[in-house]
Amino acid sequence: MDKAMYAIEVENLTKIYGKGDSAVTALADASIQVKPGELVAILGPSGSGKTTLLTCIGLINEPTHGKVVIDGTTVADGGWHGGIDLKRMRREKLGFIFQAHNLIPFLTARENVMVALEINNFSRNEAKARAAELLVSLNLGHRLNNYPSALSGGEAQRVAIARALANKPKVILADEPTAALDTENGRNVMILLKKLAMENHSAILVVTHDHRMVEGFDRIFHVSDGRIDTEKYNSES
Ligand SMILES: Nc1ncnc2c1ncn2[C@@H]1O[C@H](COP(=O)(O)OP(=O)(O)O)[C@@H](O)[C@H]1O
Ligand SMILES: [Mg+2]
Repeated sequence: MDKAMYAIEVENLTKIYGKGDSAVTALADASIQVKPGELVAILGPSGSGKTTLLTCIGLINEPTHGKVVIDGTTVADGGWHGGIDLKRMRREKLGFIFQAHNLIPFLTARENVMVALEINNFSRNEAKARAAELLVSLNLGHRLNNYPSALSGGEAQRVAIARALANKPKVILADEPTAALDTENGRNVMILLKKLAMENHSAILVVTHDHRMVEGFDRIFHVSDGRIDTEKYNSES
């Protein structure tokens, strides 16, 4: 199969929650394309539709209208595209990063990463080795056997990143990944994402309302009231 030109293509995406009088249009006619290896930010105030955009792209929230194409495969076209195995697409193509407290509390750092590998058919021993390798590469070699409660915010977020990356996904979706971190740790997470976008050739879409975190992105989109308003190339990066 040809290599897809875009890792993410979103065309006129609309999401309406509820019906009738209580209907809320969370996204209206949003369009965006992200190439492999690009690090793209979505900036906007609370309630503007950022998480909705991410979860529609992430195949966990069904669009009402419009098109979503992931790595060349149409996954939604006015609702889910017929015959698409959403679970499999999610598992094979997508990695999610949420805020740090999203780790499983009763598993160690290493086991948290292993979970992502084992659902992708790695044997337990392979998963064990690869999880350790990934965590070491994120400077967490001394934390393999620690539970999330023993990790600092920055460390826990790096474990969450290792988990999202374990399967080398084409598309990484991050929802406010730096929200729970101080400025320095937030910046380190961004530097790491940038490096990964380049090395793994992943498309990384980061949602944030933190204007301090915009350095390093290739492109920045502003969202307000469910509309993608403006796009600019980041002159600071
Ligand atoms: N499950 C839902 N049911 C109804 N309304 C929702 C739901 N999720 C989000 N919304 C509404 O959609 C709008 C956009 O929300 P969201 O995508 O979470 O924005 P953001 O992530 O930018 O804060 C808001 O008005 C929010 O209240
Ligand atoms: Mg949100």
